[in-house]
Amino acid sequence: SSTAHKTDAGDLVVGGIPVADLVAEHNTPAYVLDEDDFRSRARAFRDAFSDFDVYYAGKAFLSTAVARWIDEEGLLLDVCSAGELTVALRAGLDPRRIGYHGNNKSVPELRRAVAAGVGRIIVDSFTEVERLASITADTGLTARTMVRVTAGVEAHTHEFIATAHEDQKFGFSIASGDALEAVRRLHAAPGVELLGLHSHIGSQIFDTAGFEIAARRVLALHAQVRDELGLALPEMDLGGGFGIAYTTQDDPSTPALLAEGMRRIVDTECRSLGVDRPRLSIEPGRAIVGPAMCTVYTVGTVKQVTLDAGAVRTYISVDGGMSDNIRTALYDADYSCTLAGRRSEAPPVLARVVGKHCEAGDIVVRDEFLPADLAPGDLLAVPGTGAYCRSMSSNYNHALRPPVIAVKDGAARVIVRRETEEDLLATDLG
Ligand code: LLP
Repeated sequence: SSTAHKTDAGDLVVGGIPVADLVAEHNTPAYVLDEDDFRSRARAFRDAFSDFDVYYAGKAFLSTAVARWIDEEGLLLDVCSAGELTVALRAGLDPRRIGYHGNNKSVPELRRAVAAGVGRIIVDSFTEVERLASITADTGLTARTMVRVTAGVEAHTHEFIATAHEDQKFGFSIASGDALEAVRRLHAAPGVELLGLHSHIGSQIFDTAGFEIAARRVLALHAQVRDELGLALPEMDLGGGFGIAYTTQDDPSTPALLAEGMRRIVDTECRSLGVDRPRLSIEPGRAIVGPAMCTVYTVGTVKQVTLDAGAVRTYISVDGGMSDNIRTALYDADYSCTLAGRRSEAPPVLARVVGKHCEAGDIVVRDEFLPADLAPGDLLAVPGTGAYCRSMSSNYNHALRPPVIAVKDGAARVIVRRETEEDLLATDLG
């Protein structure tokens, strides 16, 4: 992250604090969140997309403190579950600044979102249209909605993360006509206000052509809605998914370039379709929080394993693993890592950083060159773990989830505490 650096003595310093000092006080494993870096990424999106609404996608990482930072920086918040909505409301966010997603929102969840006055409910199925119609009829309240549509784009990313090709669970297909039908039904439902179309094509995307094709298809539907239903939808959300650099091979775009590209496409298409440009919004998650956090581990054991070809691989076991970062095991994601608490002159050896779970796939960093003298007690930092690590963490093997420590200007604050064994036992009723 931008304020992280190493001293001559090899100490990794984040937010003005040596990681070793944080560890002395808070132990490992721990997520360290650089508040200035987080805020400056949020601001960079808000500034580059000044004529858009920018929703931070809380699924990447959400806590009460982070929801407040987002609000202070002028962003809105995308939540995708009742739990995330609870955190957002607890943080004191204006409900009108919250977008609520999900492919299977229950009646009680929708009831609560409508009652809270959530700004946008992103409707994902015909069942949900009926649920909202009956909730608004019962309560006399209004539901403000958008329609999640599927643009049929194959974003070039891991199959499990791509969401806008046809064969998947989210949204209404444009190609099949379901999207237009959903617009028709929402428009007809009393008490339901339809504000626009919503598209999200996937995550960790570098090739902006995917966004452009999706924007064109969604705008074409937007124009069709005007022509066939006489309805000028005031808004359109183009989703998130902007990739970040996990390794030196990754070459992410900048918020300014992304904004420019989207504006160009939208303006050109609107002109050629003869429709007014709707108010646009986006929903970046990873690109804001991903680079702002690192995970710090303590090395527990170092083992040399001889491979079939006779080569040796060094396995470095740390005190966390797939319970705090499932992404390597689940998506074959690439991370790097660095020695954090001292300097080493030892030659680099190719190492694999693994966790302490009972599973061979419990890999944190598949391949990294680390000093040959790495030993138990050394600290390792894995950068870029802000997105979808803590938020996808688990208690596998009854692991205790690590804390999130926010650092800024040489001061540290625990914004999510470490779980305790009491937390684990609290739900186990014996
Ligand atoms: N908006 C919607 C409707 C989404 O579904 C998502 C992510 C986002 C915004 C934010 O996408 P981002 O800017 O963070 O890429 N667990 C996977 C990623 C799943 C993304 C789910 N939806 C991973 O660890 O890579």
